[in-house]
This record gives sequence, C-alpha cells and structure tokens, in this order.
Amino acid sequence: MINNINKIRESFPILKNKIQLSSCSQSAMHLDVKDSINKYMSSWEENGMDWGGWMQACENARLEFAKMINADRSEIAIVSSVSHGVSSIATSLTDQKRKKVLIADFDFPTVGHVWLSHQDQYDVSFIGRNEGDFIDAKAYHDHIDEETLIVNTSHVSFYDGFKQDLKEVARVVHEKGAYLSVDAYQSLGQCPIDVKEMDIDILTAGLQKYALGIPGIAFLYIKKELADTLTPKITGWFGQSNPFAFDIKHVEYGEGTKRFDSGTFPMINGFAAEAALKVLNQYDIADIEDHLKHLSQVTIEEAEGRGLTIKSPKTLHNKASNTAIYVENASEVEGQLKDQGIIVSARNDVIRIAPHFYNTKDDIKLAVKELARLIN
Ligand SMILES: Cc1ncc(COP(=O)(O)O)c(C=O)c1O
Repeated sequence: MINNINKIRESFPILKNKIQLSSCSQSAMHLDVKDSINKYMSSWEENGMDWGGWMQACENARLEFAKMINADRSEIAIVSSVSHGVSSIATSLTDQKRKKVLIADFDFPTVGHVWLSHQDQYDVSFIGRNEGDFIDAKAYHDHIDEETLIVNTSHVSFYDGFKQDLKEVARVVHEKGAYLSVDAYQSLGQCPIDVKEMDIDILTAGLQKYALGIPGIAFLYIKKELADTLTPKITGWFGQSNPFAFDIKHVEYGEGTKRFDSGTFPMINGFAAEAALKVLNQYDIADIEDHLKHLSQVTIEEAEGRGLTIKSPKTLHNKASNTAIYVENASEVEGQLKDQGIIVSARNDVIRIAPHFYNTKDDIKLAVKELARLIN
C-alpha cells in the first residue's frame, strides 16, 4: 500500500497548484530529479568538467534500471530512445535464419517504423487485437510459425493502457522458438517487471513516462546468453571492451549487452535517470500498481457515471494506470483543461487520464468532472 501520500506529494512541487495526470506522456517533476540535474550543472560550472563523475551517474542509472527489472547490469545498454534500442536490435539480427518479424499493431508506431525500414531484410507483419476483447496468448500462438524470428509487443499500450500478461506471451513465443522483444516504456515505474520471471529476451524503456525522468536516455535489456551472440551494427566507442584504448583500427565489442552502448552517454539525462529510478526503487512497484488500480476503478466509475465513453479495458487485471476517454476534439480539450490547471494527455480521439502514485481520488474526480463539463 502507498502510505503517507501527503508526504510523497511534497516532493512534487507542481502538485501544490495543479493536478498532473499525464504520466503516460510525462510524469510530475520530483525534487530529487531537479537536484540531480542541478548537480550536473554545478559540476560543469564549478569544475569545468568531470568525465569520471558524469559517467558514474549514468552507470548508477544503468544499475538502478537493472534492479527495477531484475536484470544484471551487464545485461543493460544505455541508448538515447526506444527507437534507438529497437533499431539496434533490428540491425543486429540480419544474419539469423528466420526472417519473419511480428509486431503488435497497438505498439507505439516507432516500433513499426523501425522494422518496416528494414523490409529488405525481414518479412514484417502485424497482429491486431480482437474487437471488444484484447489479445491473448492464443492469438500470438496462431500468428507465429517456425520462420518467426521475433515478436515485438508492448507491456502496456500507450493509447488505452491495455496491459498484457507477458509471462504467458513469452511462453507461447518461446514454444515456437522465436524471441520476445518488449517495449516497456508505458509500464516501467507503474507495473512490476521481472525479466527473469517473465522470461523476456529483449526489453526497451525510456524514462519520461511513469519512470519520473526526462527524455534523451533509454535502456535496452538483452539477456546475456543472447547478447553475447549478437554483433551490434549501431555502435561506437562506448560499446567497445575498452573505449579508452583509442584504437581506431579494431572493433572489439564489450561483454554482454554493454556492447550495445554507442557514443558518449547522455550525461545530463543520466543524472535525471539516476535520481528518478532511485526514488522509484525505494518502493515496491506492486504497491504503486495497487494504488493505480484503485484510481482506475475511480476513473471508470466517475466517467461512466457522467456518461463518458471509455476506450480502455474496464477490467482491472488487464489495465494499467491510463484510462482513455473518447473525446472528438481531444487536443483542444487537453488545452482547455491545462488552462484550468489540470494536465492530461490527448492522443487522436482520446484524453488519457494517467495518474501516478502521487495522485489521489480527488484529483481524478475533479479532472473527470471538468472533462465531462467541457465535452457537454
Ligand atoms: C510505448 C512507447 N514506446 C515508444 C515511445 C517513443 O519512444 P522514443 O521516442 O524514445 O523512441 C513512446 C512515446 O510516447 C511510447 O509510449
């Protein structure tokens, strides 16, 4: 259970004046994250440079991410975005015998863009969700065959918060001898992730959503047994076993997934990521998830009570924080709510109400009430 929510809220200054319910897009700023970014700025201003200290912050962030998903730090690469992570994978599997790539059509579009740009190497196809229902393991089973190389899917949908049972998906994918690559950008920080228990081969996530950080840094998990067999094509000096050998004539990849590091780390983003993940790692993410289930229930009840159309699952077991409510002119309504100090996130035809562990049911009630008033 999330205790002492008032105390938690004190660390997010914006909550004194505003209701922030936009964690599917950007969560509220925690004071520790601001302090950590300022630490980088002061170090630059006062000491001129501190490569050792700056790199250490990024290494600390790598470790905190590894802890959060129950991986070893050697299984994590530092990348700049999820797009970068997926591109690293797409370009390193070209020598595999199997050529079929399956993508869930509710994945974030960038995943499709990356794989489709390599159609000369792969046979790319999509798997959709059933009408009214949501995709289950059997649907994956029916779409995967002995030529399927990799299945890409998201833990939680960016659009409507639909959440999948990854352990079950992994079981089916592995039964057919394919790899499972998960985009966890929308679940990191709000749903427990255990890559070992779930048996995930590859996972990417950025920090800007529920992980309390900023864009510009993301992480790529590849399980060790697999990483050591791959030859990264998106690479650079940080992916080498000794970046500081300054040997331009040889490529000697680092151990494990670290070989997928590329250029100089995004230092300032790494400072933000270290602090953000340290804040979250103080909690049991299952407690955060429970709190968000409760807020989901409140959102669904409030929205239905006011006659709004919910596009998200209405069952809590396959839904994460985000409740998507149908609004024809969603971007406009997002702006109108913002003018009233209520921060939500629009996508196409929905307003996404996406609370985090610092939100209360009063936040939700007020936001839904104002949303209903604007729509009507
Ligand atoms: C699930 C998901 N994946 C990927 C992205 C985009 O990732 P990036 O910009 O880091 O490539 C987003 C951004 O909203 C997202 O929600």
